[in-house]
Amino acid sequence: MPEYIDLRSDTVTHPTEEMYDVMRSAPLGDDNLRDDPTVHNLETLAAELTGHEAALFCPTGTMANLLGTRMFTKPGDGVVMPPELNMYRYGVIAWNSLQPIFAPARTGYPAIDDLVSAIERGLAGDTPPTLVVIEMPHNGAGGTVASPEYIAQVRAVAQHYGLAFYLDGARVYNAVVATGQPLQAFASQADGMMFCVSKGLSAPVGSILCGSRPLIERATRTRFLMGGAMRQAGLLAACGIYALNHLVERLQEDHDNARQLAQAVACWPQLLLDQPSVDTNMVYLDVAKTGMTAEEFCHRLADHGILGGWINEQQVRLVTHRGITSADIEKTIKAVDAILLQTQVSC
Ligand SMILES: Cc1ncc(COP(=O)(O)O)c(C=O)c1O
Repeated sequence: MPEYIDLRSDTVTHPTEEMYDVMRSAPLGDDNLRDDPTVHNLETLAAELTGHEAALFCPTGTMANLLGTRMFTKPGDGVVMPPELNMYRYGVIAWNSLQPIFAPARTGYPAIDDLVSAIERGLAGDTPPTLVVIEMPHNGAGGTVASPEYIAQVRAVAQHYGLAFYLDGARVYNAVVATGQPLQAFASQADGMMFCVSKGLSAPVGSILCGSRPLIERATRTRFLMGGAMRQAGLLAACGIYALNHLVERLQEDHDNARQLAQAVACWPQLLLDQPSVDTNMVYLDVAKTGMTAEEFCHRLADHGILGGWINEQQVRLVTHRGITSADIEKTIKAVDAILLQTQVSC
């Protein structure tokens, strides 16, 4: 494949040289027998960092979310959530046979009053909720971030109604860097949560489900049944440990690059920044006014050696990560300028 500036996702990051080194020297066992020491070390570290009792290494964020939501619900239960949740969009909620109850949220985070209304509506209906789910950063809303105070309010509301609270924190470290708040300020508020080391943190594989010891024990059995017990998984866990120890602070560079790109959007009348704020490493563009579909726009970008993702007919998502420099963003801005010049107005 030719060298592209790949802005499709932060999941395209490759392992660092140091990760290959730690993989080579990682002590290994059989994680299905729960005796891989490197997996054990990653899980212990994750539990400590998030402020939970225990943790479970999973192959993907999707599996961690499947397990996490399943541990707090039974088929047919309602789940209160903002729209555009990754877990809703890609079928985790459906696969666990749960009924979504939406609380409106343009920013990705429902106002507390709206959350309360959704819970009360659900409790009065046929599929009473047992769980509240929040995703942070909220991918579908543009990687937006909420404050620890907001997350604490969600927790308090869920508790008040006797519901559990689960946090999809796939990119929670981006929130940590964006707000300067410690991970526990967000992570320990939830009854269960997961985060990924495979996204901006650059590990090749892995997400970690965190919660109480009984929850993690039950989730371990279900992970096996889902085909997620990975034997010498310490090879992968070693990269996760490296990422947590060395690659968190650099996420700021990704946020700066996303902001640089978003600032350019203001100069292009045919493009709209389609998100309330640029808090982390994502830029969503509405390309409807260019006369192109989002897919066509991405094909034109690819002609310039830049890959973006089309989310729907009119929305393009560009994501910064460890493989992207400020110079790559400059090139991207020039490419967009050239594409828009052909559709008349340019900056
Ligand atoms: C917020 C969020 N949760 C969960 C996932 C699923 O993670 P995975 O691709 O590792 O299954 C993603 C994927 O990008 C995500 O953005």
